[in-house]
Amino acid sequence: MKDKAGHRVTRDGIRIHTPADFAGMHKAGRLAAQLLDEVAELVSPGQTTGAIDAYVERRVTEEGATSATIGYKGYKHATCISVNHVVCHGIPGDKTLKDGDILNIDVTVIVDGWFGDTSRMYVAGKLSRKTERLLQVTHDSLMKGIEAVKPGNTFGDIGYAIQSFVEANRMSVVRDFCGHGLGTVFHAPPNVLHYGRQGTGPVLEEGMFFTIEPMVNLGRPETKVLADDWTAVTRDKSLSAQFEHSVGVTADGAEIFTLSPAGTFHPTY
Ligand code: MF3
Ligand code: CO
Ligand code: CO
Repeated sequence: MKDKAGHRVTRDGIRIHTPADFAGMHKAGRLAAQLLDEVAELVSPGQTTGAIDAYVERRVTEEGATSATIGYKGYKHATCISVNHVVCHGIPGDKTLKDGDILNIDVTVIVDGWFGDTSRMYVAGKLSRKTERLLQVTHDSLMKGIEAVKPGNTFGDIGYAIQSFVEANRMSVVRDFCGHGLGTVFHAPPNVLHYGRQGTGPVLEEGMFFTIEPMVNLGRPETKVLADDWTAVTRDKSLSAQFEHSVGVTADGAEIFTLSPAGTFHPTY
């Protein structure tokens, strides 16, 4: 099967991209990652999440890019900012950060039609030991997932790598949200599950683009969405963390499109 632009599409509806497409994703991913580098210095006790979002919105425009989230299903902001027990899709606003808060900032930009989607964790003020371990395990679980990306492996191998690592550390993987294909659209097949069994699911092929974005809880995996219809929180109010990269499958592994230009993807404690 082919799509309108002449790309092959697999039986699972996954688009196979070309070398020129990798260049487009590289540029979009790099800008998204650079914006996450820049906001690091805005994160501190007393700051509002709305001010961080306003900064990102302004910078996206300055760079001649477009926010993928403003106007997406009625969402109005350039970022999602998810603090403490918020799992994902936290709405930025006038809430101020407190000492010891952990937060995920998630940004998706469109550059020349290509979508770059990435998120990482930040800390306002001082980090406790227990929380440091949550961030480390979540970050490392994403990297274990990316290590499983190569032609011939399956999406189940990615999920298995993440889940087995997280659970070995006695934390839990959120099931209610997943990664996604992307490229010239925000969300495309497949659903990239952060749990699963080896050898199951679609087979990875060179040219597939998708995100991996595990959400890890200190407590139980269940979530619920608040009355604002966006904010997802842990049901047991335990702390939650998330890291996200956009990747492309290469001949022998993965290209990470959203590498931090400053090398600060992992929070510097
Ligand atoms: N960037 C998020 C993701 O990783 C999606 C946010 S959609 C929004 O898929 F509307 F909530 F911004
Ligand atoms: Co995403
Ligand atoms: Co995202």
